[in-house]
Amino acid sequence: MSEGPSVQTIIEPFKIKMVEPITLTTPEQREAILRKAAFNVFQIPAEEVIIDLLTDSGTAAMSAEQWAGMIRGDESYAGARSWFHFEQVMRDLTGIAHVLPTHQGRASERILFELIGGPGKVIPSNNHFDTTRANIEHSGARAVDLVIDEGKQPRSRHPFKGNMDVAKLEQLIAKTGATNIPVCMMTVTNNSGGGQPVSLANLREVRAICTKHGIQFFLDACRFAENAYLIKLREPGQSNRSAKEIAQEMFSLVDGATISAKKDGLVNIGGVLLMRDDALAARANNLLILTEGFVTYGGLAGRDLEAMAQGFIEVLDEHYLEYRIRSTAYLGEHLLKAGIQIVEPPGGHAIYIDAAAFCPHIPTDQFPGQALVCTLYRHAGIRAVEIGSVMFGGAAGPPAMELVRLAIPRRVYTQSHIDYVIEAAAEVFEQRARIRGLRITEAPPALRHFTAKFEEV
Ligand code: F0G
Repeated sequence: MSEGPSVQTIIEPFKIKMVEPITLTTPEQREAILRKAAFNVFQIPAEEVIIDLLTDSGTAAMSAEQWAGMIRGDESYAGARSWFHFEQVMRDLTGIAHVLPTHQGRASERILFELIGGPGKVIPSNNHFDTTRANIEHSGARAVDLVIDEGKQPRSRHPFKGNMDVAKLEQLIAKTGATNIPVCMMTVTNNSGGGQPVSLANLREVRAICTKHGIQFFLDACRFAENAYLIKLREPGQSNRSAKEIAQEMFSLVDGATISAKKDGLVNIGGVLLMRDDALAARANNLLILTEGFVTYGGLAGRDLEAMAQGFIEVLDEHYLEYRIRSTAYLGEHLLKAGIQIVEPPGGHAIYIDAAAFCPHIPTDQFPGQALVCTLYRHAGIRAVEIGSVMFGGAAGPPAMELVRLAIPRRVYTQSHIDYVIEAAAEVFEQRARIRGLRITEAPPALRHFTAKFEEV
């Protein structure tokens, strides 16, 4: 090989050996599909979507090694070999003794908050994800979001917009009393706040406060590997460490974690609940057996445990993480170049378009985010998701931001798929004055974004 500058292009560090066809639709077909779905993309069959950016959850492509693990899976009811393999991988990664398998993240949340939530309890986080909040509230406890102010400003370029405001945490503890705060959570990366990372410095500060007041500290660690890699890229003094070492330090700072393996676990189904406290783990195991399954499978098949074990190893591969974070940033940078305002800087798993800035002519009560989601589908068959006043509005009043999330499934789409999304979004932006607002014609009392029906104003 010759000396001189090496090739700089960051490539997808995998090759494809199994493919799934994408059905290409015409604009006329999509118009009819959209109307049949009453302008709600959750009602559109996936086969009628060209690029599906609805979620990065459970949508990853598994590797050959993961599929090999699926074949090796030991399906014994108790003490399966696959369980011991999975437990060993999780202990090596996290250093946390008690590993409980669950079918997905919200099952871990339900068990945890049934044990430590309840009326009168208050549970802070940077931002609770919807299912976490719902499970806390279902237990009778109150969920409180304490993200730093920069985390609420789309244009702020703060490198760790997922950080918790520690002064607000101290105030909350002073007001509520530490005995009423059973646990402090931290979502890494902060999905509801734009997929933004949390710094090690912030995790250490929150750890110190929790220790001082005798409060447990847990991670919602769905996207721990992306968070670790963003720490490596952005936090002073971290660039020479491996993503795995950083992830291990993140877990070393907490008493436990809830994890949906459908994100950085690189699997289509699975979850984990981790804890250090022996007595709490014994109680959690009893609840696990009650509704999920025996403690060595937790509602999963042995093959699922093998796929998760391999996924939690692969996700920390630095070439994978470099490609992953770079490809998300690539989408974000090109949308910005086209004049489209996004939540800056790009985070780990998704790009969030500021729909209020995109459609200034559409008032909040005509759902600018939902209108943009429908227009992206109509124009190019792209399915995104509204995170704004359809999802969070209603009785509580409109949320702080009107966002449209383009979540990127792991190892599924190539650069040309993303180029297609960029080109389509730029064309929609050119014609944005033609986007029409929506009104709700039918909606259920709760979680309306899944089933509400709309018509154009
Ligand atoms: N916590 C976070 C931060 C999440 O993003 C999710 C799921 C969960 C918990 C719940 O996990 O779905 O396995 O029960 N987020 C998906 C999304 C649904 O599209 O962002 P689950």
